Amino acid sequence: MKYFTTTSKASRRAVDCVIVGVYKRGKLGVGAADIDAASKGHIRNLIKSGDVSGAAGRVAVLAALPGVKAARVVVVGLGKSGGLDAIAFRKAVAAATRAIADTKTRQILNCLSLEPVSNCDPYYLARHTVECIGDALYRFDQMKSGRKKPAMPLHTIGLAIAKRGDAAKATRGAEHGDGISAGVSLAKDLGNLPANVCTPSYLARVAKKLASGNGKLSTRILNESEMKKLGMGSLLSVTAGAVEPAKLIVMQYKGAGSDKPVVLVGKGVTFDTGGISLKPGAGMDEMKYDMCGAASVIGTMAAITKMKLPINVNVVVPAVVNMPAGNATNPGDIVKSMSGQTIEVLNTDAEGRLILCDALTYSRRFKPAAIIDVATLTGACVVALGNHRCAIYSNDDGLQDEIFASSKSSEDIGWPMPMGDQYALQLKSNFADMANIGGPGGGSVTAACFLGKFTDGMNWAHLDIAGVAWRSGAQKGATGRPVPLLSEFLLSRAGVLP
Ligand code: BES
Ligand code: MN
Ligand code: ZN
Repeated sequence: MKYFTTTSKASRRAVDCVIVGVYKRGKLGVGAADIDAASKGHIRNLIKSGDVSGAAGRVAVLAALPGVKAARVVVVGLGKSGGLDAIAFRKAVAAATRAIADTKTRQILNCLSLEPVSNCDPYYLARHTVECIGDALYRFDQMKSGRKKPAMPLHTIGLAIAKRGDAAKATRGAEHGDGISAGVSLAKDLGNLPANVCTPSYLARVAKKLASGNGKLSTRILNESEMKKLGMGSLLSVTAGAVEPAKLIVMQYKGAGSDKPVVLVGKGVTFDTGGISLKPGAGMDEMKYDMCGAASVIGTMAAITKMKLPINVNVVVPAVVNMPAGNATNPGDIVKSMSGQTIEVLNTDAEGRLILCDALTYSRRFKPAAIIDVATLTGACVVALGNHRCAIYSNDDGLQDEIFASSKSSEDIGWPMPMGDQYALQLKSNFADMANIGGPGGGSVTAACFLGKFTDGMNWAHLDIAGVAWRSGAQKGATGRPVPLLSEFLLSRAGVLP
């Protein structure tokens, strides 16, 4: 994607499309006011006739307006004047883009960035613009046969700025938005692919391919016998019943010499049947999304390599299939983790933590500056926070605050959650060092506490993304979250945010 910034008027740029906004009660945004003046009152007339409205989400596409150089003008409703925040801004850009998704638009100039948006500077306005256009144009049709609708041939995004002095910030925002958008797209693709395609070996191939031709990025794949030598009895107990071989994917990006790396660990259960503690049938297809943690950390790696961030980042993905079989793990089996701690597997459906604990122990060798694991870990998290926010756990208040702040500024929002001994006690086992489930109360918290038993001495956080990684229903599909949150965290750590 190419970018330009411009201070010229909306009516003066000969692009395929300009996006402008109107508020409720007929108040015109900056771009709309200019288009209205240049076209001798066209917008106001359409507001009078009801064809254009300021109601949030309403969109009108106007082609070949007299006095306007752009081929089409998209007028999007912005709601109450004065009330625009980043969420509303993103919704408006997405709605405008969707309205022209079937057209042959090659350039878009977004003039909504001239509106006052609370807590948003030119950097974030440009970034949100690019991220939202990418999001709105995303399609997953690689599994459909026959002729496919051609994608919109967009190659240039223009960012309207109020003054020349904002150009550098806006350009940087656009570049970062482009990187994040690529990461989100990859994470969505991996999430949406069915489990008969997206196997642990497939994820390993994608990780290998990302590294090929990039001198700063390397990928190593460990197979089951190597994991056995390392003592990963907990991870291997999950894959016991599966035919597809498990993989441990290890990626290393060196953008900053010998600094300690940030390590991202992603749950990669490419299908979760529950194992012998079999899940009910209804909606089980959605357990193809149980590798969205892995998809998000691999997607984030794609984003930061595209942005060439000056930071060291490692990605570790335990990738397995959780299947029932004659040789599958039974409820009550006791396994030994790489840390030496033993685990009574009371429920084979609580498998995410069993693979993550060994991946966390493996990651100690990198002496992480911080380690963040990302997992579609518990249905309980969806009960607690719904589909809006991911859960943020940490053994360090400073790190938890830092991630919470990143979640807010990236609009990929989370919520800080508690841990502590009272919850951890729920994991007591009569027969092993711990059980893998903590009873009915606080299921997302006890899952975090389980992981906490493997992260002593590390600066660690855990994101439970079960509610945010994909949408169900008519709009079923992966969201690519939390690639924006993780990218924001790394942009901030790399010191490249304006
Ligand atoms: N992958 C699931 C968590 C999940 C369930 C995510 C539904 C999104 C929607 C995880 O492996 C799991 O099955 N967790 C169990 C844990 C329980 C057995 C303690 C759950 O949440 O029911
Ligand atoms: Mn499960
Ligand atoms: Zn699972």
